[in-house]
Amino acid sequence: VNIQSPFEEIGGEQVIHELVNAFYSRVGRHPDLAPIFPNDLSETSRKQKQFLTQYLGGPSLYTSEHGHPMLRARHLPFEITPKRAKAWLTCMEEAMDEIGLEGPYRKEFFQRLVLTAQHMINSPDKPE
Ligand code: HEM
Repeated sequence: VNIQSPFEEIGGEQVIHELVNAFYSRVGRHPDLAPIFPNDLSETSRKQKQFLTQYLGGPSLYTSEHGHPMLRARHLPFEITPKRAKAWLTCMEEAMDEIGLEGPYRKEFFQRLVLTAQHMINSPDKPE
């Protein structure tokens, strides 16, 4: 038998690092997202690499350093609107395209991210 975690299936640490780098380079340039993120995304990016590693069944890097993720609570200081959730997911989808992440695990991974992103929404869209 060969029981691999999704973390291993997608290519492990190297692929997570490529994905997260490609993702935050888009977030930093996105007009709806950039305003709520720090200018220097290196620490955010480091935490996200730790988080996604454990989210996909790899080593619990995030929890070892920061404790329970409590992701929704950690996002409450920021206005997360449906529009921003969509933008976040678009940046992630484009990052997956950029690094050439393909296959059934991509679809599963992305579907989970859609649910998590929806869960982060804490504010309504603003009227234009
Ligand atoms: C942190 C925005 C969805 C995981 C943050 C930060 C912002 C943010 C502004 C703080 C960055 C910083 O100060 O360093 C958003 C928006 C989302 C979203 C607009 C749209 C729905 C997600 C999702 C995940 C996620 C879906 C996980 C799959 C994280 C993690 C952190 C973080 C792990 C670092 C928490 C910490 O400080 O320890 N996010 N996020 N976010 N986000 Fe999100």
